[in-house]
Amino acid sequence: MKVGMPLNNHIAVVTGAGSGIGYAMATRLAQESIPIVAADIDYQSASKTADDIKTAGGKATPVKADVSQTKDVREIFNHCEENFGPCTLLCNNAGHAQQKPFLDITIDDFDHMIAVHMRGMFLCAQTVLPKMLSSGDGVIINTASQLGYLGAIELAHYAAAKSGIIGLTRSMAREFSKTGVRIFAIAPGATRTPIFDSISDDWLQAKASQLPLGRFAEPSEIAETAVFLASPLSAAFVGQTLNPNSGDIMV
Ligand SMILES: NC(=O)c1ccc[n+]([C@@H]2O[C@H](COP(=O)([O-])OP(=O)(O)OC[C@H]3O[C@@H](n4cnc5c(N)ncnc54)[C@H](O)[C@@H]3O)[C@@H](O)[C@H]2O)c1
Repeated sequence: MKVGMPLNNHIAVVTGAGSGIGYAMATRLAQESIPIVAADIDYQSASKTADDIKTAGGKATPVKADVSQTKDVREIFNHCEENFGPCTLLCNNAGHAQQKPFLDITIDDFDHMIAVHMRGMFLCAQTVLPKMLSSGDGVIINTASQLGYLGAIELAHYAAAKSGIIGLTRSMAREFSKTGVRIFAIAPGATRTPIFDSISDDWLQAKASQLPLGRFAEPSEIAETAVFLASPLSAAFVGQTLNPNSGDIMV
């Protein structure tokens, strides 16, 4: 369902747009007539997202980028300016998961997890912010996870990265909200996407059985949270983390 109100004439960059929640955000925001830069480390999947948006009548362009790399991040926002203009809506969403007992997590595993999630979101925000600040307008939405509050057995580095994203979001919101730039996080609960491919069935079944809603969220339900945060309807929210999580944590 369309919001039916202008979403601020946004121009959006969605990272991790090739799959799952990023795909759902990109395709849903495009329904609001927002041009989309679909950024992903996997160019084929980013291209598929952009093609799907264009087939549905929207505007989109793919870009291959590893969000943990400064040069690639610059390329995302240059690509956005060349195709549509300066980015006004950043969905910092790219991520990956890895399940490992704490004592088996290597330094490389740990560093990679922090680099994709925290450094990636930091770099994208730092690159996009100067233009947002000079126009006094813009929205940044960081995809965290409820595991950032809860922690999780065998997902310590993932949960730590997601906790860090919540702190990054709150700090940026405190620093920038008076400028007109709005900064949020979304902390989904378990959501049916390919990220589950790396998580054991036992873990997933145990998790699903504990949920008050009795089911995992769909990526489209997380995308609706992003639409709300990108819209003027969320004007009084500052630095908050919204929690579409099937009732797993009620905060
Ligand atoms: N699915 C869930 O249950 C769930 C729950 C909470 C939070 N999240 C978070 O939501 C976000 C999206 O996850 P998803 O479930 O849609 O997973 P997904 O695996 O379906 O999609 C993630 C996308 O990010 C891309 N990506 C990975 N590393 C990248 C990098 N370095 N640079 C650019 N792109 C990269 C992948 O190629 C993929 O297209 C992630 O940040 C994830 O941690 C997911």
